[in-house]
Amino acid sequence: MKVYNVAVVGATGAVGLEMVSLLERRNFPVNKLYLFASERSEGKIIKFRGEECKVVRLSPENIPGGLDIALFSAGAAVSREYAPLFVNKGVFVIDNSSAWRMEPEIPLVVPEVNVHVLSKDKKLISNPNCSTIQMVVVLHPIDKYAKITRVVVSTYQSVSGAGGRAINELLEQSRKFLAGEEIPRVPGGKFPYRIAFNLFPHIDVFLENGYTKEEMKMVNETKKIMSRQDLKISATCVRVPVIRAHSESVWIETERKVTPGEVREILSGAPGVKVVDDVERLEYPMPIDAEYNEYTFVGRIREDISTERGVVLWIVSDNLWKGAALNAVQIAEALVERGIV
Ligand code: A2P
Repeated sequence: MKVYNVAVVGATGAVGLEMVSLLERRNFPVNKLYLFASERSEGKIIKFRGEECKVVRLSPENIPGGLDIALFSAGAAVSREYAPLFVNKGVFVIDNSSAWRMEPEIPLVVPEVNVHVLSKDKKLISNPNCSTIQMVVVLHPIDKYAKITRVVVSTYQSVSGAGGRAINELLEQSRKFLAGEEIPRVPGGKFPYRIAFNLFPHIDVFLENGYTKEEMKMVNETKKIMSRQDLKISATCVRVPVIRAHSESVWIETERKVTPGEVREILSGAPGVKVVDDVERLEYPMPIDAEYNEYTFVGRIREDISTERGVVLWIVSDNLWKGAALNAVQIAEALVERGIV
Protein backbone atom coordinates (compact mmCIF):
# COMPACT_ATOMS: atom_id res chain seq x y z
CA MET A 1 0.00 0.00 0.00
CA LYS A 2 1.18 3.50 -0.82
CA VAL A 3 2.10 5.59 2.23
CA TYR A 4 2.26 9.37 2.59
CA ASN A 5 4.31 11.97 4.42
CA VAL A 6 1.86 14.07 6.41
CA ALA A 7 2.23 17.29 8.44
CA VAL A 8 -0.09 18.72 11.06
CA VAL A 9 0.34 22.48 11.49
CA GLY A 10 -1.04 23.66 14.84
CA ALA A 11 -0.56 20.16 16.24
CA THR A 12 -0.75 21.23 19.89
CA GLY A 13 -4.15 22.93 19.56
CA ALA A 14 -7.64 21.61 20.27
CA VAL A 15 -8.17 20.61 16.61
CA GLY A 16 -4.54 19.70 15.82
CA LEU A 17 -4.40 17.10 18.60
CA GLU A 18 -7.58 15.53 17.23
CA MET A 19 -6.10 15.48 13.73
CA VAL A 20 -3.13 13.47 15.01
CA SER A 21 -5.35 11.09 16.94
CA LEU A 22 -7.77 10.60 14.00
CA LEU A 23 -4.93 9.89 11.54
CA GLU A 24 -4.03 7.03 13.89
CA ARG A 25 -7.58 5.92 14.72
CA ARG A 26 -8.59 5.75 11.03
CA ASN A 27 -5.35 4.06 9.98
CA PHE A 28 -4.47 6.78 7.51
CA PRO A 29 -1.47 5.46 5.54
CA VAL A 30 1.11 7.76 7.14
CA ASN A 31 4.77 7.16 6.33
CA LYS A 32 6.29 10.03 8.32
CA LEU A 33 4.35 12.49 10.48
CA TYR A 34 5.65 16.04 10.99
CA LEU A 35 4.17 18.18 13.77
CA PHE A 36 4.35 21.97 13.75
CA ALA A 37 3.28 24.66 16.22
CA SER A 38 4.59 28.01 17.42
CA GLU A 39 7.89 28.47 19.23
CA ARG A 40 5.92 28.18 22.52
CA SER A 41 5.53 24.46 21.91
CA GLU A 42 8.89 23.66 20.36
CA GLY A 43 10.13 20.26 21.55
CA LYS A 44 6.78 19.15 23.03
CA ILE A 45 6.08 15.45 22.57
CA ILE A 46 2.87 14.09 21.05
CA LYS A 47 2.33 10.36 20.73
CA PHE A 48 1.47 8.84 17.37
CA ARG A 49 1.06 5.07 16.96
CA GLY A 50 2.88 4.55 20.26
CA GLU A 51 5.88 6.59 19.17
CA GLU A 52 6.98 9.96 20.49
CA CYS A 53 6.79 12.72 17.90
CA LYS A 54 8.53 16.02 18.57
CA VAL A 55 6.79 19.32 17.79
CA VAL A 56 8.85 21.62 15.54
CA ARG A 57 8.56 25.41 15.37
CA LEU A 58 6.87 26.46 12.16
CA SER A 59 9.14 28.55 9.95
CA PRO A 60 9.70 28.70 6.18
CA GLU A 61 13.05 26.93 6.47
CA ASN A 62 11.54 24.08 8.53
CA ILE A 63 9.13 22.93 5.80
CA PRO A 64 10.44 19.48 4.89
CA GLY A 65 10.87 18.16 1.37
CA GLY A 66 8.87 15.13 0.23
CA LEU A 67 5.69 16.10 2.06
CA ASP A 68 2.42 14.90 0.47
CA ILE A 69 -0.34 16.34 2.67
CA ALA A 70 -0.49 19.05 5.36
CA LEU A 71 -3.44 19.52 7.69
CA PHE A 72 -3.55 23.12 8.95
CA SER A 73 -5.26 24.21 12.19
CA ALA A 74 -3.19 27.14 13.44
CA GLY A 75 -5.60 29.94 12.54
CA ALA A 76 -6.18 32.16 9.52
CA ALA A 77 -3.04 34.31 9.85
CA VAL A 78 -0.75 31.27 9.82
CA SER A 79 -2.70 29.77 6.91
CA ARG A 80 -2.46 32.95 4.86
CA GLU A 81 1.30 33.03 5.31
CA TYR A 82 2.18 29.35 5.17
CA ALA A 83 -0.39 27.51 3.03
CA PRO A 84 1.04 29.02 -0.20
CA LEU A 85 4.57 28.05 0.88
CA PHE A 86 3.52 24.42 1.36
CA VAL A 87 1.51 24.39 -1.88
CA ASN A 88 4.51 25.75 -3.80
CA LYS A 89 6.41 22.70 -2.61
CA GLY A 90 3.77 20.46 -4.19
CA VAL A 91 1.94 19.67 -0.93
CA PHE A 92 -1.86 19.23 -0.70
CA VAL A 93 -2.93 21.60 2.09
CA ILE A 94 -6.23 20.99 3.89
CA ASP A 95 -6.85 24.17 5.81
CA ASN A 96 -9.22 24.38 8.76
CA SER A 97 -9.16 28.18 8.98
CA SER A 98 -11.51 30.66 7.34
CA ALA A 99 -8.65 32.21 5.32
CA TRP A 100 -9.43 30.73 1.92
CA ARG A 101 -12.93 29.29 2.20
CA MET A 102 -14.76 31.83 0.09
CA GLU A 103 -12.14 32.15 -2.67
CA PRO A 104 -14.06 31.00 -5.75
CA GLU A 105 -11.22 28.81 -7.05
CA ILE A 106 -10.60 27.03 -3.73
CA PRO A 107 -12.60 23.87 -3.03
CA LEU A 108 -14.61 23.99 0.21
CA VAL A 109 -15.29 20.37 0.93
CA VAL A 110 -17.56 18.15 3.00
CA PRO A 111 -16.91 14.70 1.51
CA GLU A 112 -20.52 13.49 1.95
CA VAL A 113 -21.73 16.47 -0.09
CA ASN A 114 -19.23 17.66 -2.71
CA VAL A 115 -16.20 15.38 -2.89
CA HIS A 116 -16.32 15.75 -6.69
CA VAL A 117 -14.75 19.23 -6.48
CA LEU A 118 -11.38 17.75 -5.44
CA SER A 119 -8.79 17.61 -8.22
CA LYS A 120 -5.06 17.25 -8.82
CA ASP A 121 -4.60 20.90 -9.76
CA LYS A 122 -6.36 22.27 -6.63
CA LYS A 123 -3.74 21.71 -3.96
CA LEU A 124 -5.19 24.15 -1.44
CA ILE A 125 -8.45 22.84 -0.01
CA SER A 126 -10.57 24.49 2.66
CA ASN A 127 -12.27 22.70 5.52
CA PRO A 128 -15.55 24.51 6.29
CA ASN A 129 -16.70 26.09 9.52
CA CYS A 130 -17.73 23.56 12.20
CA SER A 131 -21.41 24.58 12.40
CA THR A 132 -21.71 24.57 8.62
CA ILE A 133 -20.30 21.05 8.22
CA GLN A 134 -22.77 19.32 10.52
CA MET A 135 -25.69 21.22 8.99
CA VAL A 136 -24.90 20.45 5.34
CA VAL A 137 -24.33 16.75 6.03
CA VAL A 138 -28.01 16.67 7.02
CA LEU A 139 -29.42 19.24 4.58
CA HIS A 140 -27.82 17.79 1.44
CA PRO A 141 -29.76 14.48 1.32
CA ILE A 142 -33.02 16.32 2.00
CA ASP A 143 -32.20 18.89 -0.69
CA LYS A 144 -31.65 16.11 -3.24
CA TYR A 145 -35.06 14.64 -2.38
CA ALA A 146 -37.14 17.83 -2.20
CA LYS A 147 -35.33 21.03 -3.03
CA ILE A 148 -34.81 23.15 0.09
CA THR A 149 -35.85 26.76 -0.43
CA ARG A 150 -35.19 28.33 2.97
CA VAL A 151 -33.18 27.55 6.11
CA VAL A 152 -33.32 29.26 9.51
CA VAL A 153 -30.81 28.02 12.06
CA SER A 154 -29.93 28.77 15.67
CA THR A 155 -26.75 27.22 17.04
CA TYR A 156 -25.68 26.21 20.53
CA GLN A 157 -21.90 26.08 20.14
CA SER A 158 -19.48 24.57 22.63
CA VAL A 159 -16.44 26.44 23.90
CA SER A 160 -13.92 24.06 22.29
CA GLY A 161 -14.80 25.76 19.01
CA ALA A 162 -12.78 28.70 20.33
CA GLY A 163 -9.70 26.51 20.96
CA GLY A 164 -7.98 24.74 23.82
CA ARG A 165 -7.58 27.86 25.97
CA ALA A 166 -11.32 28.48 25.82
CA ILE A 167 -12.01 25.08 27.42
CA ASN A 168 -9.68 26.00 30.28
CA GLU A 169 -11.45 29.34 30.63
CA LEU A 170 -14.85 27.64 31.08
CA LEU A 171 -13.48 25.12 33.58
CA GLU A 172 -11.59 27.74 35.56
CA GLN A 173 -14.59 30.10 35.67
CA SER A 174 -16.89 27.24 36.73
CA ARG A 175 -14.55 26.26 39.55
CA LYS A 176 -14.40 29.86 40.76
CA PHE A 177 -18.17 30.30 40.48
CA LEU A 178 -18.88 27.16 42.52
CA ALA A 179 -16.35 28.24 45.14
CA GLY A 180 -18.13 31.58 45.44
CA GLU A 181 -15.07 33.43 44.12
CA GLU A 182 -15.10 36.43 41.83
CA ILE A 183 -14.54 35.74 38.16
CA PRO A 184 -12.29 38.47 36.79
CA ARG A 185 -12.19 39.34 33.08
CA VAL A 186 -9.03 37.66 31.80
CA PRO A 187 -6.99 40.09 29.71
CA GLY A 188 -6.63 38.48 26.29
CA GLY A 189 -9.26 35.87 27.25
CA LYS A 190 -11.21 34.04 24.58
CA PHE A 191 -14.68 35.36 25.45
CA PRO A 192 -16.22 38.82 25.79
CA TYR A 193 -18.21 37.84 28.90
CA ARG A 194 -18.31 35.15 31.56
CA ILE A 195 -19.20 31.88 29.84
CA ALA A 196 -19.66 29.72 32.96
CA PHE A 197 -23.40 29.53 33.75
CA ASN A 198 -24.09 31.99 30.95
CA LEU A 199 -24.36 32.14 27.14
CA PHE A 200 -24.06 34.86 24.51
CA PRO A 201 -25.36 35.35 20.96
CA HIS A 202 -21.95 36.43 19.78
CA ILE A 203 -19.32 34.29 18.00
CA ASP A 204 -16.57 36.03 16.02
CA VAL A 205 -16.93 39.74 15.17
CA PHE A 206 -20.06 41.74 14.33
CA LEU A 207 -20.46 42.84 10.72
CA GLU A 208 -22.20 45.85 9.21
CA ASN A 209 -25.41 43.93 8.49
CA GLY A 210 -25.88 43.15 12.20
CA TYR A 211 -24.94 39.49 11.81
CA THR A 212 -21.71 38.03 13.22
CA LYS A 213 -18.96 36.69 10.99
CA GLU A 214 -19.73 33.17 12.29
CA GLU A 215 -23.37 33.57 11.19
CA MET A 216 -22.37 34.79 7.73
CA LYS A 217 -19.91 31.86 7.44
CA MET A 218 -22.88 29.52 7.88
CA VAL A 219 -24.84 31.42 5.23
CA ASN A 220 -22.12 31.75 2.60
CA GLU A 221 -20.32 28.44 3.12
CA THR A 222 -23.55 26.44 3.00
CA LYS A 223 -24.44 27.98 -0.38
CA LYS A 224 -20.97 27.24 -1.76
CA ILE A 225 -20.73 23.63 -0.52
CA MET A 226 -24.25 22.74 -1.69
CA SER A 227 -23.82 24.71 -4.96
CA ARG A 228 -27.04 26.54 -4.08
CA GLN A 229 -26.39 30.28 -4.38
CA ASP A 230 -30.16 30.75 -4.51
CA LEU A 231 -30.77 29.17 -1.10
CA LYS A 232 -32.22 31.55 1.49
CA ILE A 233 -30.52 31.16 4.88
CA SER A 234 -30.47 33.09 8.14
CA ALA A 235 -28.42 32.10 11.21
CA THR A 236 -28.07 33.03 14.86
CA CYS A 237 -24.92 31.63 16.48
CA VAL A 238 -24.79 31.28 20.24
CA ARG A 239 -21.90 30.24 22.49
CA VAL A 240 -23.02 27.98 25.34
CA PRO A 241 -21.12 26.55 28.33
CA VAL A 242 -20.71 23.08 26.83
CA ILE A 243 -17.18 21.73 26.41
CA ARG A 244 -17.56 19.72 23.25
CA ALA A 245 -20.12 19.19 20.42
CA HIS A 246 -22.29 21.81 18.78
CA SER A 247 -26.10 21.64 18.64
CA GLU A 248 -28.37 23.30 16.09
CA SER A 249 -32.06 23.95 15.80
CA VAL A 250 -32.83 24.06 12.07
CA TRP A 251 -36.06 25.05 10.30
CA ILE A 252 -36.23 24.17 6.62
CA GLU A 253 -38.75 24.89 3.90
CA THR A 254 -38.90 22.73 0.80
CA GLU A 255 -40.27 23.33 -2.69
CA ARG A 256 -42.81 20.54 -2.26
CA LYS A 257 -44.19 19.27 1.02
CA VAL A 258 -42.21 16.50 2.75
CA THR A 259 -43.34 14.75 5.88
CA PRO A 260 -41.22 14.17 8.98
CA GLY A 261 -41.50 10.43 8.19
CA GLU A 262 -39.97 10.95 4.74
CA VAL A 263 -37.16 13.06 6.21
CA ARG A 264 -36.47 10.38 8.83
CA GLU A 265 -36.27 7.75 6.08
CA ILE A 266 -33.96 9.82 3.85
CA LEU A 267 -31.64 10.59 6.76
CA SER A 268 -31.58 6.99 7.97
CA GLY A 269 -29.69 6.06 4.82
CA ALA A 270 -27.54 9.19 4.60
CA PRO A 271 -23.75 8.87 4.91
CA GLY A 272 -22.31 10.11 8.19
CA VAL A 273 -25.75 10.69 9.71
CA LYS A 274 -27.44 8.85 12.56
CA VAL A 275 -31.11 9.44 13.39
CA VAL A 276 -31.86 9.48 17.13
CA ASP A 277 -35.51 10.39 17.30
CA ASP A 278 -37.84 8.64 19.68
CA VAL A 279 -39.44 11.16 21.97
CA GLU A 280 -41.60 8.55 23.70
CA ARG A 281 -38.38 7.04 25.02
CA LEU A 282 -36.87 10.52 25.52
CA GLU A 283 -34.29 9.84 22.81
CA TYR A 284 -32.84 12.84 21.03
CA PRO A 285 -29.28 13.94 20.23
CA MET A 286 -27.24 15.62 22.95
CA PRO A 287 -23.65 16.89 23.12
CA ILE A 288 -22.69 14.32 25.78
CA ASP A 289 -23.58 11.51 23.38
CA ALA A 290 -21.98 13.12 20.33
CA GLU A 291 -18.54 13.86 21.74
CA TYR A 292 -15.78 11.62 20.37
CA ASN A 293 -18.28 10.23 17.88
CA GLU A 294 -17.84 10.35 14.10
CA TYR A 295 -21.55 10.69 13.30
CA THR A 296 -23.72 13.75 12.94
CA PHE A 297 -26.85 13.05 14.98
CA VAL A 298 -30.31 14.29 14.08
CA GLY A 299 -33.58 14.10 15.98
CA ARG A 300 -36.72 16.03 17.02
CA ILE A 301 -37.75 15.75 13.36
CA ARG A 302 -41.20 17.31 13.17
CA GLU A 303 -43.50 19.39 11.04
CA ASP A 304 -43.07 23.15 11.22
CA ILE A 305 -46.60 24.02 12.28
CA SER A 306 -46.08 27.68 11.32
CA THR A 307 -45.79 27.06 7.58
CA GLU A 308 -47.09 24.89 4.71
CA ARG A 309 -43.94 23.05 3.67
CA GLY A 310 -41.62 23.14 6.66
CA VAL A 311 -39.73 20.65 8.81
CA VAL A 312 -37.82 21.30 12.04
CA LEU A 313 -34.68 19.36 13.01
CA TRP A 314 -32.23 19.17 15.90
CA ILE A 315 -28.65 18.41 14.81
CA VAL A 316 -25.71 17.60 17.10
CA SER A 317 -22.13 16.69 16.21
CA ASP A 318 -18.65 16.77 17.70
CA ASN A 319 -17.29 20.10 16.52
CA LEU A 320 -13.67 19.00 16.92
CA TRP A 321 -14.28 15.80 14.94
CA LYS A 322 -16.80 16.11 12.10
CA GLY A 323 -16.76 19.88 12.53
CA ALA A 324 -13.01 20.09 12.06
CA ALA A 325 -10.37 17.34 12.37
CA LEU A 326 -12.42 14.39 11.11
CA ASN A 327 -13.70 16.25 8.06
CA ALA A 328 -10.10 17.27 7.25
CA VAL A 329 -8.87 13.69 7.57
CA GLN A 330 -11.80 12.47 5.43
CA ILE A 331 -10.77 14.97 2.74
CA ALA A 332 -7.24 13.52 2.89
CA GLU A 333 -8.72 10.02 2.61
CA ALA A 334 -10.73 11.12 -0.44
CA LEU A 335 -7.54 12.45 -2.08
CA VAL A 336 -5.96 9.02 -1.55
CA GLU A 337 -9.01 6.97 -2.60
CA ARG A 338 -9.42 8.99 -5.80
CA GLY A 339 -5.72 8.73 -6.67
CA ILE A 340 -5.39 12.52 -6.54
CA VAL A 341 -2.41 12.60 -4.17
P1 A2P B 1 1.06 26.73 20.27
O1 A2P B 1 0.52 25.61 21.11
O2 A2P B 1 2.55 26.67 20.16
O3 A2P B 1 0.53 28.07 20.63
P2 A2P B 1 -6.05 26.40 19.47
O4 A2P B 1 -6.97 26.49 18.29
O5 A2P B 1 -6.41 25.30 20.42
O6 A2P B 1 -5.90 27.74 20.15
O7 A2P B 1 -4.60 26.01 18.88
C1 A2P B 1 -3.93 26.76 17.92
C2 A2P B 1 -2.76 25.98 17.36
O8 A2P B 1 -2.08 26.81 16.42
C3 A2P B 1 -1.72 25.58 18.40
O9 A2P B 1 -1.11 24.38 18.04
C4 A2P B 1 -0.74 26.74 18.31
O10 A2P B 1 0.57 26.42 18.75
C5 A2P B 1 -0.71 26.95 16.82
N1 A2P B 1 -0.20 28.25 16.47
C6 A2P B 1 -0.67 29.46 16.86
N2 A2P B 1 0.08 30.46 16.33
C7 A2P B 1 1.04 29.86 15.59
C8 A2P B 1 2.14 30.34 14.79
N3 A2P B 1 2.38 31.64 14.64
N4 A2P B 1 2.91 29.41 14.17
C9 A2P B 1 2.67 28.10 14.31
N5 A2P B 1 1.67 27.59 15.05
C10 A2P B 1 0.87 28.45 15.69
